[in-house]
Amino acid sequence: MAELTTLRTTTSPFRNLVHMLTNPVSGTALIIDPAWDLDKIRDVLAFHKVSLKYILLTHSHNDHINLVDELVGRYPDVEVYMSQAEIDFYGFRCKNLVAIRDFSPLHLDGFDVNPIFTPGHTYGSVCYLIDRFLFSGDTLFTEGCGICHGAGSDPEKMFDSLQTLKRTVHRETGIFPGHKLGLPIGKTLGSLLVTNLYLMLESKSHFVKFRMRKGQVGLFDFS
Ligand SMILES: [Fe+2]
Repeated sequence: MAELTTLRTTTSPFRNLVHMLTNPVSGTALIIDPAWDLDKIRDVLAFHKVSLKYILLTHSHNDHINLVDELVGRYPDVEVYMSQAEIDFYGFRCKNLVAIRDFSPLHLDGFDVNPIFTPGHTYGSVCYLIDRFLFSGDTLFTEGCGICHGAGSDPEKMFDSLQTLKRTVHRETGIFPGHKLGLPIGKTLGSLLVTNLYLMLESKSHFVKFRMRKGQVGLFDFS
């Protein structure tokens, strides 16, 4: 069983959560959305005596990808995964980039990864289901969901994506987003279904109105 380490990385004013899975049997590691703090990532790899083999990107916003080039340069065998839709829409490029097209399971060395296409926050956002963890990027937070402003964002697609997660992800799965706004991460989807308003709204039109309402404050008050 892979072990999960979550790093809180920051460069003012950004605060991100970078998740790493390490597998002692295969001696490999996987990282989701590497950003800001290379030393912390290197410390985890050294502590577990594993090699970084895979980078999974939920989307292409800078605060989720800004260590990709450095990591690929340092670990030349690393493969970098992102959806084809995200690559095409935003023109993301890096070495060793692998496009996810059909969303069938990926059997990577030491890790079984189920990518789930969840557009809305960006044109081609992806969540990654691995073991009992869902790495949800800026699609689903403990406290809400990602904003739907900017190029490629779409609140109607966000609603559909959250419905997809509700339909397909087991209730006991822990939710590990790319940011937190005060509450702990790792809560089960089942618990968020009765606490997270964005998961509770059943009408797409109500959801879109609520997500896009004027005067929202604290959208980037990540802790
Ligand atoms: Fe984002």
